Amino acid sequence: MSGPALDAAVDFAGIALRNPVLTASGTFGYGTEFAQFMDLRAIGGFVAKSLTLEPRTGNLPHRILETPAGMLNAIGLENVGVDAFVSKKLPRIPDGVPVIASVFGTAPDEYAEVCKRLTGVPKLAGLELNASCPHVKAGGIEFGQNPELLADLVRVARGATTLPLIVKLSPNVTSIAEMARVCEGEGADGLALINTLQALEIDLQTRRPALRNVLGGLSGPAIRPVALRMVFQAARAVTIPICGIGGIATGEDAVKFLLAGAHAVQVGTANYANPMAAREVAEGIAAYAAGHGFERVADLIGALETD
Ligand SMILES: Cc1cc2nc3c(=O)[nH]c(=O)nc-3n(C[C@H](O)[C@H](O)[C@H](O)COP(=O)(O)O)c2cc1C
Repeated sequence: MSGPALDAAVDFAGIALRNPVLTASGTFGYGTEFAQFMDLRAIGGFVAKSLTLEPRTGNLPHRILETPAGMLNAIGLENVGVDAFVSKKLPRIPDGVPVIASVFGTAPDEYAEVCKRLTGVPKLAGLELNASCPHVKAGGIEFGQNPELLADLVRVARGATTLPLIVKLSPNVTSIAEMARVCEGEGADGLALINTLQALEIDLQTRRPALRNVLGGLSGPAIRPVALRMVFQAARAVTIPICGIGGIATGEDAVKFLLAGAHAVQVGTANYANPMAAREVAEGIAAYAAGHGFERVADLIGALETD
């Protein structure tokens, strides 16, 4: 005899999700590319590729590399620009799919202008600020690596939008708890973490960096325990909800993030190996919850026992 139907819905930063699985920015295009592989309504929603004010072509190749347990990338934020996203990409997304737009810029004012252009656009459920951009005036350090720069950025973006505002944090910091508190203090509705870990690979034939950009961002299974640790620490530092990201490829991976305190998760690099990965992660979470006597997936959130 089967038990009561499982309730998979969660609320993340004021966004109602039918299940806690989103896809990560930069690994799921603008959603339309994946519509042929699955009904987008089978996942909680998706985060689109980071958008800038003007279109960008990104870095020169090589800009992607496979590593033993993941991927190194230095795409350089190639994107169609905010206006083309609104006029050409969003209208092609079926109704009923929560879309979160990722926002990126080189100065707070630029972020704010992108936020303004996205606010009030039908179909958009929220904004995710990609704070991993090098701040030019501060000599290349990322917004997300300096608490003062991060506070300025979140304050300016908060003033530019009424949409739920999620700040995506860089893992390339000493204290993720401090960065999480800064965002909460400036009015962020939620956090997403982690972005890629700064990394280097060398080509022994050419004795040059394997990526044209020299440094890249490491993602995939290699970073999962690091991401899990950071979600655990951030969840204890703030009361706003957290979306866990980093190496999630199965329902069981995702359940660990929920137990550590995440309200939702994002699937990134796994989409490259399996375009149906996010749907399978959602199914895997449901199977774990049902198999362990939970009636609501939300009851897994923060259920980690540490003593
Ligand atoms: C090819 C590639 C492109 C990415 N582009 C973006 C981006 O535009 N904006 C962003 O916030 N994160 C970007 N990311 C980071 C992912 O969204 C995610 O935070 C990171 O890859 C860790 O998750 P994963 O291990 O599941 O991939 C990108 C990652 C990859 C692999």
